Amino acid sequence: MISITRAVRTPALARAVRGLSGSAIHRDQQPARDNAHESTTHFGFKTVPSDMKESLVRGVFSSVASSYDVMNDAMSMGVHRLWKDHFIRKMAPQPGAKLLDVAGGTGDITQRFLEYQDRVNGDSTSSVHMLDINPEMLAEGERRFADSAWVHDGRISFTVGNAEHLETISDETFDAYSIAFGIRNCTRPEQVVREAYRVLKPGGRFMCLEFSRVENPVLAAIYDFHSFNVIPRLGEAIAGDRASYEYLVESIRKFPAQNEFAQIIRDAGFTTIGKGYENLTFGTVAIHTGYKF
Ligand SMILES: C[S@@+](CC[C@H](N)C(=O)[O-])C[C@H]1O[C@@H](n2cnc3c(N)ncnc32)[C@H](O)[C@@H]1O
Repeated sequence: MISITRAVRTPALARAVRGLSGSAIHRDQQPARDNAHESTTHFGFKTVPSDMKESLVRGVFSSVASSYDVMNDAMSMGVHRLWKDHFIRKMAPQPGAKLLDVAGGTGDITQRFLEYQDRVNGDSTSSVHMLDINPEMLAEGERRFADSAWVHDGRISFTVGNAEHLETISDETFDAYSIAFGIRNCTRPEQVVREAYRVLKPGGRFMCLEFSRVENPVLAAIYDFHSFNVIPRLGEAIAGDRASYEYLVESIRKFPAQNEFAQIIRDAGFTTIGKGYENLTFGTVAIHTGYKF
């Protein structure tokens, strides 16, 4: 059963963006640092009032929720599955581990975590708490697991909530924290990482899977072409929603590069090993890891 701590439905992105006055928005393709103390922030390449971003993002995911899994496969040609498999193998959770899967969406990370525990550790005591700001996305996750033994055994719980304010979660509750393709949508990534630090137990691990920077210029050009030309068209053809997929592509370019995000993780108090991240597929995505000691 989903315990809804906060659920505000908003219109889909296209309607929301259409409703914004032109003077409130300007387009800016430069990567941006978190604007925690500023009155504006980025929403893709648009600049919007900071207090508006959360509802705009919620609108995007309300709009894409029902086609999210199909679109993920189409956009990445299935490769997102390999990235997520690798993410969980790298996490290598211990038997009995409690995972907080933030921005858990339709449950790809949650499923892989529990499969790993069952298959590799023969463990039936570990659990996942899935949290997402969007009730429609979380409802897709709940549907996916509805008939599973994991739900019946009480190993999955669901909460609608904001990664920036984990109000319902006490300090030092979880052994591991995951956020996959979620943090770039948050208004204040620094605040997200600080909250992760607070809710992890000493010895716990923060892991983030997110789109990042392709450094090779030839590959970057091919990737840009795919991102700006193919993905919005796929969004239109498969999900009937070009605007949401334009936002998703633009938001990738606005997220800090690998080394900048690694520093944000260290600034929150985490220890990183080496440079603190691993690039996958030439830096298309990166896995960042921080340890709470
Ligand atoms: C691209 S989906 C990723 C879903 C899943 N983790 C995956 O890898 O397939 C991003 C998710 O982040 C959620 N999200 C965006 N902003 C959030 C916030 N501030 N707090 C919690 N979740 C958020 C969205 O609702 C959406 O479900």
